[in-house]
Amino acid sequence: MTWNPAQYLKFAGARLRPAVDLLSRVPSEAPTTVFDLGCGAGQTVALLAARFPNARIMGIDSSAEMLAKARQSFPEHQFIAGNIAAFRAVPPAHLVFSNAALQWLGDHENLLPRLLGEVKVGGVLAVQMPRVEDSPRMRSLREIASDPRWADRALPLLQPGPLVPAAYYDLLAPGAANLDIWETEYLHVLEGEDPVVEWTRGAGGAGMLAALDDRERKDFLARYTAAMREAYPRRADGTTLLPFRRLFIVASRK
Ligand SMILES: C[S@@+](CC[C@H](N)C(=O)[O-])C[C@H]1O[C@@H](n2cnc3c(N)ncnc32)[C@H](O)[C@@H]1O
Repeated sequence: MTWNPAQYLKFAGARLRPAVDLLSRVPSEAPTTVFDLGCGAGQTVALLAARFPNARIMGIDSSAEMLAKARQSFPEHQFIAGNIAAFRAVPPAHLVFSNAALQWLGDHENLLPRLLGEVKVGGVLAVQMPRVEDSPRMRSLREIASDPRWADRALPLLQPGPLVPAAYYDLLAPGAANLDIWETEYLHVLEGEDPVVEWTRGAGGAGMLAALDDRERKDFLARYTAAMREAYPRRADGTTLLPFRRLFIVASRK
């Protein structure tokens, strides 16, 4: 998977809003040890540090590019290279936070209960994931990725996406004292040329485009751009509206 921090941060405001909303539902007892899984360019670690100034906060990410940007922007915080799939909370965690990252990992049936098990009794697992697989933006990406010219390289790079909300209730309820699950559909107001394409290039589409040669990338982008202009037309005031559904989970460990 390839991440380009500059491309991702083009929409930093819209992308950070759900992290703020997630954090607002985390109970306010001051945690002393916090992990931010898939911390990316570090914005969410800074957010956590502002809310919990006395906590030790560790950002974990598998992208060298994102970690480099995080360390450059927030030298006062701790960023560690690691794979969420193998995450173990050392030292034991009061809060495991993850904004817009777990949708990249499969096997949520085992992953989510395991992550809840990594927080101390009374601690909190707080997760936000986009749930957009049925949006025109992702349907088109999937359809174009299925072209036999590049399907073998592009299709495996599609994010698996989360399960339905009720599935997380069933997975987490046995280990949770409190479980708060909800969805919000944001209406992101985007500016500029082909902003939906730019948005996708900052996340789900980045790895896919990197797997293509120059000619393929040009063809892929031309098709995707045409589809996005039709699905998300630019409005008279120059903005483009992108509806975006996100799933939130806040679980306190029993
Ligand atoms: C959409 S970004 C979110 C970054 C940050 N949490 C934020 O809200 O701005 C997703 C991040 O998850 C990281 N990621 C994806 N899969 C991962 C894995 N298996 N282990 C660690 N990090 C992962 C990516 O490298 C990327 O930085």
